[in-house]
Amino acid sequence: MIIVPGPASESLGIKVAASMNAETVHVISKVFPDGESYIRLTGKVQGEDVAVIQTAAPHQNTCLFQLLQIADLLDDLGAKTVIAVMPYFAYARQSKRSLDGEAVSVRTIIKLIETVGVDEFVSVNVHNLEVLEAFSIPAESLSAVPVLASYLKDHGLKGVFSLAPDDGAAWMAADASKILGGGHGWLEKKRDPVTGEVAVKKPDLEIAGKDLVVIDDIISTGETTAKAVEVAREQGARHVYAACVHPLMVGDALSRIRRSGAEMIIGTDSVESDVSTVTVAPLVAGALMRRI
Ligand code: R5P
Repeated sequence: MIIVPGPASESLGIKVAASMNAETVHVISKVFPDGESYIRLTGKVQGEDVAVIQTAAPHQNTCLFQLLQIADLLDDLGAKTVIAVMPYFAYARQSKRSLDGEAVSVRTIIKLIETVGVDEFVSVNVHNLEVLEAFSIPAESLSAVPVLASYLKDHGLKGVFSLAPDDGAAWMAADASKILGGGHGWLEKKRDPVTGEVAVKKPDLEIAGKDLVVIDDIISTGETTAKAVEVAREQGARHVYAACVHPLMVGDALSRIRRSGAEMIIGTDSVESDVSTVTVAPLVAGALMRRI
């Protein structure tokens, strides 16, 4: 299998290829002054199974379009199969119509991916797994939670309580606690569909004196994680840490979470950021090798 690291996942793509001992074919990319995106492939792919690795972190629309360009190009240049690996699946949070007239944007993305000749789709911790049902090609979401939890355990956090900031991430906290021990729980979060403001309910978690990690799939503005850290500290947690799979880290997310009292913040390289300490390369490589 040939690995094509996309411009948004260059270093992850190279690591995935190294984990698989696979050949890489690189792309040259640029964005013209008017904003148009240019892609050129530097090697041959005819008759080969090819995986393009391109995340869709901010600026999502450019990253998504580059993924479509590369997949379409691979198909055009005669690749036998095209696997699109999009470690962070942008727009997966827009998977249903909450207010009248809203676009279900993730469906648009899926239609585009299928149209350009992608044969299989792989992502990591897709926000809403039901989204995968909208694909008519095989589509898989890998979980990086064991990788994150193992990293925390290896760094002395064995026995911490795993806390999800909302019920959507409750399974992640449960999975993390299988590795970390220390128990798990979740908060009730409500986000105003118009203002986007987050309110968190505070159940009694019995965490006084315990160390705790807040674990979520995405940190975007940091508001959700910061609120969960505050609740944990109000309830007497001793040391509080924060972990996520996709560190979008928009604006002052990092300082906001630090201000809330988190002592360490980690994420994966599904999205390149200042806190992308843990790599998902072996996870992605494993998924690709199962396809060979
Ligand atoms: C939403 O349900 C997600 O799981 C995250 O909790 C959310 O996207 C985080 O966003 P922010 O960091 O802006 O609060």
